[in-house]
Order: sequence, then structure tokens, then C-alpha cells
Amino acid sequence: MKDKIEELKKLKEKAKLGGGKVRIKTQHDKGKLTARERIELLVDEGSFDEIDAFVKHRATEFGLDKQHFPGDGVVTGFAKIDGRPIALFSQDFTVFGGSLSETHAEKIVKIMNMAMKTGIPVIGLNDSGGARIQEGVVSLGGYADIFLLNTLASGVIPQISVVLGPCAGGAVYSPAITDFIFMVKNTSYMFVTGPNVVKTVTHEDVTFEDLGGAETHATKSGVAHFIYDNEVETLLNVRKLMSYIPLNYRDKPSEFELDESTVKPEPKLDKIVPANPNKPYDMKEIINLLVDENDFFEVHKYYAENIICGFARIGGTSVGIIANQPSVLAGVLDINASVKAARFVRFCDAFGISILVLVDVPGFLPGTDQEWNGIIRNGAKLLFAFSEATVPKVTVITRKAYGGAYDVMNSKHIRGDFNFAWPSAEIAVMGPKGAVEIIFKKEISAAKDPDKELDKKINEYREKFANPYITAERGFVDDVILPSETRIKLINAFSLLRTKVDTNPKKKHSNIPL
Ligand code: HXC
Repeated sequence: MKDKIEELKKLKEKAKLGGGKVRIKTQHDKGKLTARERIELLVDEGSFDEIDAFVKHRATEFGLDKQHFPGDGVVTGFAKIDGRPIALFSQDFTVFGGSLSETHAEKIVKIMNMAMKTGIPVIGLNDSGGARIQEGVVSLGGYADIFLLNTLASGVIPQISVVLGPCAGGAVYSPAITDFIFMVKNTSYMFVTGPNVVKTVTHEDVTFEDLGGAETHATKSGVAHFIYDNEVETLLNVRKLMSYIPLNYRDKPSEFELDESTVKPEPKLDKIVPANPNKPYDMKEIINLLVDENDFFEVHKYYAENIICGFARIGGTSVGIIANQPSVLAGVLDINASVKAARFVRFCDAFGISILVLVDVPGFLPGTDQEWNGIIRNGAKLLFAFSEATVPKVTVITRKAYGGAYDVMNSKHIRGDFNFAWPSAEIAVMGPKGAVEIIFKKEISAAKDPDKELDKKINEYREKFANPYITAERGFVDDVILPSETRIKLINAFSLLRTKVDTNPKKKHSNIPL
């Protein structure tokens, strides 16, 4: 028996070396960690149980019958993050460039199936040259098996993709289907076709980083939700994300203890919204004062910054926050902001995470660019997402809530559970200037001094409509509250809503405007 135990230990040690010491050095020289070093950073110490370390590929063409590495380029298994279980795979670039073979795919499919059965999240650490070229269509089939499972698992268990190296060609579509994508600056990239193909087809000269690096996907395409300077920071932030989300759609996010001493009025909130309605302010200041420990974990921080999305805890409970940002484009809703927020709302709703909406929105962005690119069908995504969501939904209107955007931003009419307004709220069909120019067009042009008349009418309109009380008279907001007492109101609201039950009509699935 002793010999057999020694043999097993040796085999496992060999598997741990992946493609060997030279390739590990090359990986380190590129500023990248190995598949196993990444797992160590990601999961609780000593919690990783590997499976399939002995799996080998079955290919024989192009000399592959003479090249075998135990594990076949991906480390798979189960582990814990903050004591809660996860399934994970970590592609090993030192073995055939982390390329995906038939058996590599089977290993990923195996842990995903187990994750579905047991209801635990899947985290994929991607670092791969794509389909294993020598295996041809078998490898493409392996990708498709993963895509199908990604799709079937969507909304059942959270799926997180961490792109830590190349992720190119059709391979990008697995991360794209998952819930969140993390990337690292300068060492990871994602694109459907690389710079060489781009040059041939469109004659554009573009670098890997510019075409599909982390910053490109965080700012321009919106493909990456989180980007960081290095792998360590990236993996620690994956752990942080996991603290806000449940294991599966039936589970609840972890509850944290509420520090009762923080349930008190916050006078700073009374001073943030400027007296001049056209002056911007930073909505993140408000968010930080409302949430537990001033700790807000922002999603898509650098993309469509006119809307803010992210996770926090309020009274110990996880909430997803969606907020207009008056300091960027006056907080207007455009195509990118609508799509960004819609996807976030759907994630929260799928996984039972309560939603807080902070509203200061002048409306939808006008212009041919927006209309021709489909602000109608894209804005509809956000309206649809809020309307469909059955999780606890609380809204606070801090200032402007104009036009269709008032309805869209989780209004009472689309099943907002508690809708509050600050005394600074202005709720109307449109802003004062635009409104009076339409309804008093004749009076203004007939006046001796049209500018003076316009100002007079604007003031009249503002006094009549630019306040929360007409809306409160109708019960469309449940209360007009002091900004300073907002945190207390939110803690009470989310606490009451813990037992909320709401459903949608039975159907196969809805048909969100895509
Ligand atoms: C087999 C591969 C491979 C692949 C890399 N390798 N990609 N082996 N299939 N797809 C191997 C290399 O032979 C090499 O082996 C090792 O991995 C490291 O590769 P290098 O080229 O030396 O590394 P580097 O210079 O860092 O370049 C990385 C790279 C490049 C940019 C990813 O390797 C590359 O362009 N690979 C091909 C990418 C590609 O076109 N894949 C197919 C995409 S289409 P040794 O033995 O020397 O260590 C696709 C379709 C998916 O994936 C469709 C799903 C629907």
C-alpha cells in the first residue's frame, strides 16, 4: 500500500506542474499567474477539492499522441469562498496554451452539471488560445456543450467569468453568456477576430489592447463589468462580489449583522442636492451615506457613467442599487445606460436581490444618433426589466423625474413597493422650459417682452409642478421624506419587504425587447 500511496502522490505532483517548469516561467514572465496559483488566491485556504486531475486528451493527429499532460489544460473542482461552496475551472495556459480539447470541455461540463444539481455558483478563470486546433470540430463541439450549459444555468446559479489571458474567437461567447466578466489590464483580451484578421478585412491597424483589452471592454463595449490592475486585485474582488450574491435562485444572499448605532439620521444628506436644479451633484455621495459601512461595490464603473449600478448592504441585507448620475450628462437615460441598468436589474431579480432605485433623471437623450440606434427598443429593456422584477423594489426620487423616465425608473405604476420623494423632487411630464414653450407658445410670442414672459411662465410652472406634492396627493409616492432620514426609511422598508411575495403570469418565457 505504501508504494501505491507514493505513486499517487507522484502522479498528483506531476499534474500540478501542468506544462512544465519552463512554460510556468514564461507565464510568470508575462506577468501572469498559473492556473493553480490563481485558485489559491481566489478560494478559502485549503478548501479546494480538485477532480479530474488525471484526465488526458484522446487526440492522435499532429503528434498529439506523444504529448500528454495530466489534467489536459484545465484545473477543475469545488472550493469555498467565505465558507460558501463554489464550482470552478481554471484554464492552464502552460498546457497547449490552455486550448480547449474534447476532454478539457468535458471537465468543465462536469463541474457545471454538478453546480446545477447542487445549486452553487460557477467561477471560470479563462486563459486560453481557444479551440485546440489539432482537434478540429470535436473542440468546437466542446465549446457548444459549454455554451448550452451556460445558457441553461443562466438564472439558476450565478456564473462569473474571469478573463486572465487570451479569450478569442467563438470562445468569447461563454463569458458573454455568464453574469459578470472580470478582466485584468494589459494581460487579458477578448475579441471575435484578432488584429491580423481586422487588418485583412477592414485595413485597420489596431493593437491587442486597443481592440479587446480590459479598458476597451470596460469603457467602450461594456463587455467587462470589472477591471483591475493585476490578477491579485482581480481575484480578491471576485471574492467580494460573491459576498453580495446567493448560491442559486432559491437561496438568499448572506445576511450581515446590522450595527444598530448606524440607524440614525444623516444630516449630510440634507445638503447634497443643490438649490439650483440645473447644478450637478455626485449621486455616489448619497449612495455612500445610505449604505452600510459606506461600502458600495460598483458594477460597470467606467461604462455609461450616467447611470450607476452596484451592490451594497442596507440594514445587513444585500441590495442592488440603480441610480441616475446627475454629474454625467445630467443623468440622462441613453441607449448604453438603459442596457447596462436593464441587465443589472435582471440579475438582481433572477437571484432574489432587493433593488434600490435613486432617481434624478431629466428624461431620455434626444437626437438622431440615439433614435437611429434604437433608443426606443433599448430604453424599453429597462422599462421591461423593472416592470418584470418581483423582488423588493424601493425608489427614492432625489430631484428630477421627468417624462417617460419617471415611469421607467421603478415608479409605483410598475410595481415599486415603496416610493419616496425628497422635498427637492420635481415630477412632471417635462422640464419647465420645454413645457411652457409648448403650452404657452402663443402667449409668450405675443408678449411685449417674450423673454420676461417665458421666465414668468417657467416660475409659475415650477411652483405648480416642480415639487413632489401633486404626486404624493395621488399616492404615486408613498411619502415625502427628509433626506437625512432616508437610511432609516430604507432599512425599515427592506426589512418589511423581506417576506414579500409577488409573481408574474404563467408563461413559457417573456419576450424582452432585445
Ligand atoms: C493548440 C495552441 C493553441 C490552440 C496556442 N497553442 N493556441 N495549441 N490550439 N488554439 C499552443 C502553442 O502551440 C504553444 O505550444 C502554446 O500554446 C503557447 O502559445 P504561444 O503562441 O507560444 O503563446 P503566445 O505567444 O502567448 O500567444 C498566445 C496566442 C497564440 C495569441 C493565444 O497562441 C494564438 O494566436 N493561438 C491561436 C489562437 C486561435 O486562433 N485560436 C482559435 C480561435 S477560434 P507550446 O508547445 O509551444 O507551448 C476558436 C473557435 C472557438 O477558438 C469556437 C467556439 C464556437
